[in-house]
Amino acid sequence: MANALKIGVAGLGTVGASLVRILQTRASTLTVACGRPISVAAVSARDASKDRGILMDGITWYADPVAMAKEADIDVFVELVGGSEGAAEDSVRAALGRGLHVVTANKALLSRHGVELAKLAEEKGRLLNYEAAVAGGIPVIKTLRESLTGNNFSRIYGIMNGTCNYILTRMEREGLSFADCLKEAQRLGYAEADPSFDIEGNDTAHKLSILTTLAFGCEISADKIYLEGITNISIEDIHAAADLGYRIKLLGVAQKTESGIEQRVHPTMVPLDSVIAQVDGVTNAVALESDILGELLMVGPGAGGNATASAVLGDITDIAKSRPGAQEVPVLGRPAHLLEPYRQAEMQSHEGGYFIRLTVQDRTGVFASIATQMAENAISLESIVQHSKEPATPGRPQTIILVTHATMESAVRKAVDAIKREGYLIGEPQVIRIERPKT
Ligand SMILES: NC(=O)c1ccc[n+]([C@@H]2O[C@H](COP(=O)([O-])OP(=O)(O)OC[C@H]3O[C@@H](n4cnc5c(N)ncnc54)[C@H](OP(=O)(O)O)[C@@H]3O)[C@@H](O)[C@H]2O)c1
Repeated sequence: MANALKIGVAGLGTVGASLVRILQTRASTLTVACGRPISVAAVSARDASKDRGILMDGITWYADPVAMAKEADIDVFVELVGGSEGAAEDSVRAALGRGLHVVTANKALLSRHGVELAKLAEEKGRLLNYEAAVAGGIPVIKTLRESLTGNNFSRIYGIMNGTCNYILTRMEREGLSFADCLKEAQRLGYAEADPSFDIEGNDTAHKLSILTTLAFGCEISADKIYLEGITNISIEDIHAAADLGYRIKLLGVAQKTESGIEQRVHPTMVPLDSVIAQVDGVTNAVALESDILGELLMVGPGAGGNATASAVLGDITDIAKSRPGAQEVPVLGRPAHLLEPYRQAEMQSHEGGYFIRLTVQDRTGVFASIATQMAENAISLESIVQHSKEPATPGRPQTIILVTHATMESAVRKAVDAIKREGYLIGEPQVIRIERPKT
């Protein structure tokens, strides 16, 4: 039997501790599957006194992940610390620089430094695997990187943040406000104490940037993603969407257009009868649309210790099974020096349907004025309705909901700005993009 593959695990939190427990309890099964044992030779975390339910016999403890990456007697460095800088970045660079294989679940690190790290790994002839970085347990990286080579992708999109999906699902089912659902998500451990990274869409953007590179062969450009979170979604929007046959989801979408690649993260209305509309709670989903395959939709657990550790374990066992000298899969789907510059499609030229909710003072001519502004910007309306449970009373605020046919973002923005100048709006207009999945 081949020598054991020795791994060092930096970070023993939710994911790291689950991973080490699985490696220890399934050692004999893994040995059979990989043709060699996998042994945890070193670990690192901040607090050495914490009981993490793992056996420390024969494992060297490091207080500093960078020291572990530089000195430990290991073949694979597993980074589960988190963050795009500091200990995570320094230790991954040190490990690759020393010629170790690296496995990470860190989307923040990859979305920021992924191209450089891929170049470093390729220079050293080592693997950098990161299945858990996008959509947790769903094997989307391997699917894009290995299984769908040769496909031309037209659009990829998905629900990639369980916290947001949980909040939107609870708002709809229980009729609760955004703030109440967020508090509940925090109490149940689905949302961080500081949830801004999730609810403002940054976490989805990090994941989307990695998928964009794998699907479209361009450099990672997380800072060019159009970003809108879910904090402005009200229960009124959710009800109005349902009345019109839609459900609101926070989607990350990357789409090829004539002017470049759109990358956008925003609340999105999807038809109620589409498959992605049925993906509820903390579950994630990723859809890939390509010319050879058609549409592939993968649904599953996007987070959690075991689900994420499962993806990390897959990356480690791939290394255990790989044969020295065999051609390795490029880190980002193609050799890093062959990635094309990212050609950004401007958000203003995005084309699609729009839901627009306006609260107006109920006075003569408002309806006609809104219709005129839409017509002047060449926006064709699928519907325009006064959305109120009570009869219209002069002087009382009324809600008007418009749904447009496919139109340009720039036209919608111009029309909404013109309506704002008319002086009858109460509060800010709500604009939500509509996305039409193939299935
Ligand atoms: N949790 C999920 O469901 C999930 C899903 C997908 C991807 N991920 C990714 O997986 C990674 C780990 O996430 P997690 O949820 O397991 O994080 P976590 O529970 O916060 O654990 C982080 C671990 O890193 C250790 N650590 C932090 N800073 C350190 C430092 N400077 N030196 C040494 N150790 C340090 C902590 O030590 P102490 O325990 O001693 O404090 C802890 O063990 C992140 O990149 C995250 O984005 C997580």
